[in-house]
Amino acid sequence: MSETRPEPATAGIESKQTTVGSVFVSNYPPYSIWNDSAVPDVHHALGEKPRPDATLGLYLHIPFCRKRCKFCYFRVYTDKNSTEIDTYLNALAKEVELYSRQPAIANRPLRFVYFGGGTPSYISVKHLTALVDRVKNVMPWDAAEEVAFECEPGTLTQKKLEAIKTIGVTRLSLGVENLNDEILAENGRAHLSKEVYRIHPWIQELAFDQVNIDLISGMIGETWESWRETVKKTIDLDPDSITVYQLELPFNTVYSKDILGGDSLPVADWKLKREWHQYAFEQFEKAGYVISSAYTVLKKDKPSQFVYRDAVWQGSDMIGTGVASFSHLSGIHFQNAPSWGDYLGNLEEDKLPVYRALKPTETEKLTREMILQLKLGKIRPSYFKEKFGADILTQYAEAYEKLQNDRMLHINAETDEIVLTQRGLLRVDSLLPAFYAPEYQNTRYT
Ligand SMILES: C[S@@+](CC[C@H](N)C(=O)[O-])C[C@H]1O[C@@H](n2cnc3c(N)ncnc32)[C@H](O)[C@@H]1O
Ligand code: SF4
Repeated sequence: MSETRPEPATAGIESKQTTVGSVFVSNYPPYSIWNDSAVPDVHHALGEKPRPDATLGLYLHIPFCRKRCKFCYFRVYTDKNSTEIDTYLNALAKEVELYSRQPAIANRPLRFVYFGGGTPSYISVKHLTALVDRVKNVMPWDAAEEVAFECEPGTLTQKKLEAIKTIGVTRLSLGVENLNDEILAENGRAHLSKEVYRIHPWIQELAFDQVNIDLISGMIGETWESWRETVKKTIDLDPDSITVYQLELPFNTVYSKDILGGDSLPVADWKLKREWHQYAFEQFEKAGYVISSAYTVLKKDKPSQFVYRDAVWQGSDMIGTGVASFSHLSGIHFQNAPSWGDYLGNLEEDKLPVYRALKPTETEKLTREMILQLKLGKIRPSYFKEKFGADILTQYAEAYEKLQNDRMLHINAETDEIVLTQRGLLRVDSLLPAFYAPEYQNTRYT
């Protein structure tokens, strides 16, 4: 469906209904303009020395899930057997090995590692340790500031959690999403709430540095009553951080296809999803958390960081390995082959599976960092002056003036701060296209 229908940069979030389309902004310029003509630039950059002072991270994509959630837009496979998973993980390890020999990567320390998905916790302990042994052999991460690992609660056992701890994971992120079983089942989640409570004592016992819980505001079937209950139960689980996403329906989800096929789904509108998000943040603040971004709250008395997020939003180098993964190196963005066959085929021939790329201009780099960091709720113009030599308040004057007039943010030149209001923070992704260059305003996002 998404191949034939142009997808605007941002679905109409101000429109009352949740319509089909992408809202969440994860990069800039839009992915749809990346292409194969910039791929030689990637290979050239890999052969050169790295930028001085640039930090490096490693992302490992594990694209397997027990079931496809009806709202999910990630590239995941639910039909791969153990042999196919073995083949994929061998290719993934080989990809890391190939990167480790490139002059731009060789011997650089890793600042962070991120196991994302899909569901990294889906793979067996045997598979996980075999993968980690090979990766650590060429890119050790014992000195990394953060090793993050995404989990679907129902895939965890005590033994698997112990293995996850042993490989050095510091940030365990649990896709809880909701604690109402009817809602979890309706939305096609593979887990029910009892699985969260089953694993909770083991997680506490293992004392990970940081445990995060993901929630979604606006799952199908949600009501005020069920959401209040989920928020309360989440606080009782006592995580170190909580992330709340507002449900969006990009073109490739099961629900989006139902809607485009003519079904009418009882999906909450954006106003209600923001009210639920706001309610959750207020309750979390009362319970001792502080807001650290548009989506995340952190325990006040246990200051912690999210190194991966902050590094990516500050333009750090990051090698994204695995099918369809995104990377950023020496100022160039690139993405891996998005199909199973192409990804594996490249690696079988000992080739890096780079498929499309983009070398952004200096202005595009500035815009990217600025819009991503606005999601933190506060930025300092002086940071951009120092890094890019740009006065963002002049360069983006029109957009800032409009957003200030719309009560989305405050500008305080004296204290060197641009601060989003609560109103602005709750809909930040829908505001960011205001900073896009005119040629990208109506470009399809992905
Ligand atoms: C890769 S998943 C996390 C790990 C694991 N796969 C799981 O779901 O438990 C990343 C997160 O994206 C969020 N997410 C997925 N689809 C979404 C959507 N359509 N709208 C908002 N958030 C979504 C969910 O909160 C999910 O936990
Ligand atoms: S939300 Fe997580 S578990 Fe569900 S399909 Fe997406 S990646 Fe898999």
